[in-house]
Amino acid sequence: MTNKTMTDQRLQGVAANAGRVMEPCTLVLFGASGDLTQRMVMPAIFRLARRGVLSPEFHLIGYARTRMTDDEFRARMRKAVMREPREGDEQAWTDFAARLSYLPAQYDGDDLQGYAELAHRFEQLDRGTGAGARRLFYLATPPELFSPIMKHLSDAKLAGQAHHPATGGWARFVIEKPFGHDLASARALNADIARSFNENDIYRIDHFLGKEIVQNLFALRFANVIFEPLWNRNYIDHVQITAAETLGMEGRGGYYETAGAIRDMVQNHLLQLCALVAIEPPAEWNSRAVRDEKVKVLRAIRRIHPGKVKHDAVRGQYAAGSINGKRVPGYRKEEKVATDSQTETYTALKLHIDNVRWAGVPFYLRSGKRLAKHETEIVVEFKPAPHTPWMPGGTVGKGVRPNLLVVKVSPEEGIFIRVEAKQPGQGMQLQSINLDYCLSDERGATESPSAYEHLLLDSMRGDPTFFARADEVESAWEIVEPVIKKWGSEKSPDFPNYTAGSAGPASADELLARDGRRWYDSTDQAD
Ligand code: BG6
Repeated sequence: MTNKTMTDQRLQGVAANAGRVMEPCTLVLFGASGDLTQRMVMPAIFRLARRGVLSPEFHLIGYARTRMTDDEFRARMRKAVMREPREGDEQAWTDFAARLSYLPAQYDGDDLQGYAELAHRFEQLDRGTGAGARRLFYLATPPELFSPIMKHLSDAKLAGQAHHPATGGWARFVIEKPFGHDLASARALNADIARSFNENDIYRIDHFLGKEIVQNLFALRFANVIFEPLWNRNYIDHVQITAAETLGMEGRGGYYETAGAIRDMVQNHLLQLCALVAIEPPAEWNSRAVRDEKVKVLRAIRRIHPGKVKHDAVRGQYAAGSINGKRVPGYRKEEKVATDSQTETYTALKLHIDNVRWAGVPFYLRSGKRLAKHETEIVVEFKPAPHTPWMPGGTVGKGVRPNLLVVKVSPEEGIFIRVEAKQPGQGMQLQSINLDYCLSDERGATESPSAYEHLLLDSMRGDPTFFARADEVESAWEIVEPVIKKWGSEKSPDFPNYTAGSAGPASADELLARDGRRWYDSTDQAD
């Protein structure tokens, strides 16, 4: 299949899955003047509109404190979505812009006029299309505003148990991370939400779950007979999950200082990937069954004893260095970062899943900023072949290497299996070859529906399968909590301990070396 055909099929797939055109609805985007809106949310909504997936009666109300007119808001959004304009975008934009409006108002405090104005706008929209009764509230705001906004919407009877649409209406929330700062705050937030809302109406977004290749993990494991029989402690030696980035703070130093790599990447994205690799087959394909199974995995992950944090968890922080030939500053020199910051920009963990399938199989997770390569991937390393007929040091070349299954999550999306094969020619020299499936070539990467598009559509369709449920989020916090507590109470005297542009701190290599293993290196795929 050519890559073009594959891309076309995927684009059609998005529309087909959604039932082609969505029913009319109104999206209220809180945090509409912010960075996330411009980088991720608005471009995704525009692309959905451009694909003709949104109903002609779809309407978006941008809500934020910044004073702007509708036209100023449209101009700002136009700039955000037209960063790399493509053919047909101008006309599509004009059509789309007519469906945008803006509401400058306070989120919280004494002046709650904004919520009254929202009610008024819903009424107007209702008269025309009924879209006003189908409401998607997108919270792209700082997390401390989640609870107040939701409370005011509930008090104003615009959402939640107080919202009783006459016909076929609904009110859902899409909430951006972070869902809490630690276990206690995550529980408090979930409890707050549960007071006025039904869990089924809450869509906690983890954009990794919207990635095509991540969703593909289910198909790979459960629609093929060749993987599942091997997918356990008998045949798998260990699993590595890596999210390596070359990016630094990109103006997000203020947020990152309060988060660090473990909160920013591990508590959510990496533990989600871990759960999907380790999940038992759900009995049915629905959001409850899938998420129940994920929670079971998260609960089976052994909590790291405080006394073992030093042994099983690694933290790092980058010093100045160079990335792709360009000098970059150290973390402590980034904007809004303390000059003696103790925040980790790199973390690696060794986890165990205490269940029958995975007993004795370590899962190594790592994530870091300002590393040599941008590479997010899952590596499943199988056990070595139990016996080979060739004499060691005989004609086998480098020796027989274990099979690998690598799921490439970004920047490319794809899957390959490393197998051993005979080198063509005389004798029995072996080489490793990759059986490769590439989901995104250059064209595919820009044309394919983004994770945000997938997830936005799911939230409009009312399918929370690929969103994090309250109990998942809390279980994930429970896993990282001992590490966060320990690190919060003990300074790391060796910070900064890796150079920007390197592979990370040496202690991360030691974490695996102690077990006689090493991190997978993509430059070393084949002989
Ligand atoms: C975000 C983190 O959730 O995920 C960022 O806050 C990180 O720090 C990003 O860069 C990585 O996502 P992706 O899809 O670019 O790999």
